[in-house]
Amino acid sequence: MKKIAIVCSVLLSHLIVAQVPVYKNKTAPVEKRISDLLSKMTIEEKILQLNQYTFGINNNPNNIGPEVKGLPAGIGSLIYFSADPVLRNTIQKKAMEETRLGIPILFGFDVIHGFRTVYPISIAQACSWNPELVKLNCSEAARESVLSGVDWTFSPMIDVARDPRWGRVSEGYGEDPYVNAVFGVASVKGYQGKKLSDPFSIAACLKHFVGYGMSEGGRDYRFSDVSAQSLWETYLPPYQACIDAGAATVMSGFNDISGVPATANHYTLTEILKKRWKFNGFVVSDWNAVKQLVWQGVAKDEKEAGQKAFMAGVEMDMKDNIYFEHFAALIAEKKIPMSAINDAVSRVLRVKFNLGLFDNPYTEIVEEQSRYLQARSKELATNLAEESMVLLKNKSNTLPFNSNVKKIALIGPMAKDKENIIGAWSFNGKSKDAESLFEGIQKEFKNVTINYAVGCDFDGTNESGFAEAVAKAKESDIIVLCLGEKKTWSGENASRSTIALPEIQEKLVEELKKTGKPIVLVLSNGRPLELVRLEPLVDAIVEIWQPGVAGGTPLAGILSGRINPSAKLAITFPLTTGQIPTYYSIRQSARPFDKQGDYQDISTEPLYWFGHGLSYTKYDYSPIKLSATKINKNQKIMVEVSVANTGKVDGKETVFWYVSDPVASISRPIKELKFFEKKEIKSGKKIIYTFQIEPMRDLSFTDAIGKRLFESGDFYLYVNDQKVKFEVTE
Ligand code: GLC
Repeated sequence: MKKIAIVCSVLLSHLIVAQVPVYKNKTAPVEKRISDLLSKMTIEEKILQLNQYTFGINNNPNNIGPEVKGLPAGIGSLIYFSADPVLRNTIQKKAMEETRLGIPILFGFDVIHGFRTVYPISIAQACSWNPELVKLNCSEAARESVLSGVDWTFSPMIDVARDPRWGRVSEGYGEDPYVNAVFGVASVKGYQGKKLSDPFSIAACLKHFVGYGMSEGGRDYRFSDVSAQSLWETYLPPYQACIDAGAATVMSGFNDISGVPATANHYTLTEILKKRWKFNGFVVSDWNAVKQLVWQGVAKDEKEAGQKAFMAGVEMDMKDNIYFEHFAALIAEKKIPMSAINDAVSRVLRVKFNLGLFDNPYTEIVEEQSRYLQARSKELATNLAEESMVLLKNKSNTLPFNSNVKKIALIGPMAKDKENIIGAWSFNGKSKDAESLFEGIQKEFKNVTINYAVGCDFDGTNESGFAEAVAKAKESDIIVLCLGEKKTWSGENASRSTIALPEIQEKLVEELKKTGKPIVLVLSNGRPLELVRLEPLVDAIVEIWQPGVAGGTPLAGILSGRINPSAKLAITFPLTTGQIPTYYSIRQSARPFDKQGDYQDISTEPLYWFGHGLSYTKYDYSPIKLSATKINKNQKIMVEVSVANTGKVDGKETVFWYVSDPVASISRPIKELKFFEKKEIKSGKKIIYTFQIEPMRDLSFTDAIGKRLFESGDFYLYVNDQKVKFEVTE
């Protein structure tokens, strides 16, 4: 009897499995599930998968779109402007149960620097030189996103940017391709975890592919004159690194890449991304970027725009509905082959299967107080803020405050601010969650009198607050002046013709300077600022960027000396707007002598170079040691430097390893960052930092068609203020 029972149960299980279609069989390989599902789909169902609508309260001021009430249940994706997991599950249930095949919807959102726990903006994160910490913050952001019903973030932004007039410098990792690659990879790994199907993993989205940071004149959405050489040498490397790290999706940019808009650029979207890099995820357009091809003059109407974007390699249309409205006709007119549709749908389905959405389409509902602002999230936000605030100036060791400081005049529009300090792209952040600089300083300096005055507004011409600010300053020992930008002054569609602070803020500094009191200038902003007039008036400058919800205490810790600042700039601060673009990896001038080619009216040196950042301790570098000074291209050179903390306080030092190739078949940057490493060094101790030079990786360069070239000869290695020569033969 028992045997019969076993045989029956085995037969029954096979029978059940036989009835469950392969695509619903969670034990079947993903590629088999995709092809099984594809074979069952109608053209209409396939087209729906290639569309993304918005849903929820659309609070992105740059992209006001209708809340789509009559959602087709089989829609491929939603930009989910709600944070309600129950609502998400209700919508998802429609897709799973009211459609013929039950294909889950992919819910995406802009989780750029945190979801509800908002951490420092991306440019600040890069200044921490701590990719591991950034990865942890992104994994926390992923957890909060999943619990809010979001499966996919439109992040990281890895657009190399060298024009701070462009507001979106705040959203990326600065001027260097390698730095954008390292932090982009850290973010991808943080969001996507070990496996996309892990409970708190979300899909990453690399944006804005590609060359968006070259927007002409720093004006957003514009023409970007990207040479083939610059494309391969500067703008593509971060994307290749992140694709290699397994990024699930890519977003095509708004910019026109030297005549071929990013969203209609077959060379970048298909030749490079899919054929050369073997990317098997999908590309989503930026918001309305398909429709914008008409305005950019490469499509006569929306239908042609849809065909051009799709045939270039944009699989999903964000928001503008063009694929939905025109693809049935374009397919019927044989302007879009079914093979291309099938490939595109397969890519979308692959991400959904890899995320586990077919098997676990619904969000686990946990009570709101367990979703957000957990101790771990806030601790990570605090740590990242501490490590991203840059001490730019510290004349006569004004900082940290000594015991003589009994009264602090805390002045400026940023002092009590809780709204702007969390930065742009923080739609689920709430200002009530933020700790102001005032609150942090009040907690840190319990036995010090805080004399507060707002002084002035961020802009405008109202000087009526100056008198009170001057009076508070006169009755205090030192001035902590908190200035900066509103959060809307950087981010998308936030181009500024000058990177100087508004005149009213500069006037306040001048008035306070007349008091003769030392001034510590604290800046909260989303871009490098023009400080040429302010720098001489102040004794110390702390660049805190937009630190998110946990900025007050870290700043206070730096003022008190509880925290030894360890951040360094990931983007150069030009002396004036007129110096833009100014970045460290420039090409050598044809006349690098006698100041030829320099500006006649101002210095050609920026105020603060990429890599600048002060500490409260002192680091002494030993002479660089090389394992060899002559190798062939298949060998490696181990280089090391010992760094001693000869100061009185513990610290964290980042060592930057640069190389240069002074003579090559094309001109090379005067130096290029190839590696960096941040380590803690206790006072009185020393630590060895090492780097292994691999010629094909570190000394090769790309040509204008993406071919890597290595040319033997002399090279230089730069560490701190040292420069050593070595030779590599064929
Ligand atoms: C915006 C931005 C992009 C964002 C998308 C969705 O216009 O350019 O970065 O991810 O639309 O909000």
